[in-house]
Amino acid sequence: MAERPYTLLSCGMSIDGYLDGAQGDRLLLSNDADLDRVDAVRASSDAILVGAGTVRKDNPRLLVRDPARRDARVARGLEPSPRKVTVTRCAELDSCANFFTVGDSEKLVYCASAVVADARDRLGAVATVVDGGQPVKMRRVSEDLHARGVRRLMVEGGGIVHTQFLTAALADELHLVVAPFFVGDSRASRFVGDGRFPWNPDRRARLAEVRRIGDVVLLRYALSDRFQMD
Ligand SMILES: NC(=O)c1ccc[n+]([C@@H]2O[C@H](COP(=O)([O-])OP(=O)(O)OC[C@H]3O[C@@H](n4cnc5c(N)ncnc54)[C@H](OP(=O)(O)O)[C@@H]3O)[C@@H](O)[C@H]2O)c1
Repeated sequence: MAERPYTLLSCGMSIDGYLDGAQGDRLLLSNDADLDRVDAVRASSDAILVGAGTVRKDNPRLLVRDPARRDARVARGLEPSPRKVTVTRCAELDSCANFFTVGDSEKLVYCASAVVADARDRLGAVATVVDGGQPVKMRRVSEDLHARGVRRLMVEGGGIVHTQFLTAALADELHLVVAPFFVGDSRASRFVGDGRFPWNPDRRARLAEVRRIGDVVLLRYALSDRFQMD
């Protein structure tokens, strides 16, 4: 089997397991101190992956925010921020989205074989469009990223993407931040959907760390024997 990057899943959720509200503006689950922690994780990564749903709904920039962390990356011969990666079946992504227009790092779009030509027409000027197969499998994406030099991959959601990395046993570490409120609306996206997860009542995941960060809590799970405590 080909190699894949060390993969860290990062996610903030409400007490009742939602990643966002059902409608309106992006829901703030984190706090300033936790956003700074996430920024440090980003700075230590070679690439950040989000699903196309997150690109469309949140329009994230996916940059390292802290100037000192950006400078430290540049001093190591890297771009100030990691490469950005997304996956899509339909390739209906706006080339003007922040994902594509903000920051100088490479942008990679893994799309289903059937839409590669469309995706190249639409996004070829702003991103590297990669044929991800039909269907796109996260293992293939991970292995291709490794072949492109990505050794540390941060996956920032959303739930459809997290579900696939977890059920395919492609995650080495999970950072789950729990915000102190409920969403209470099943139209909102959950942290994960249905699936057969390698960690279940018969095989419990290892809780490696619990950290209180202001009014949120970070739960850090070791999901493979490659887990590295820093
Ligand atoms: N709290 C947090 O930490 C956090 C982080 C990120 C996102 N979010 C929230 O999560 C929500 C979005 O999550 P989501 O679960 O709806 O969407 P998502 O996981 O961000 O993206 C799903 C989309 O990604 C593409 N995709 C996923 N797997 C694929 C595969 N195997 N092959 C090809 N394409 C694939 C498809 O795009 P196409 O439809 O283009 O084909 C699919 O519709 C938003 O509300 C956002 O605010 C929260």
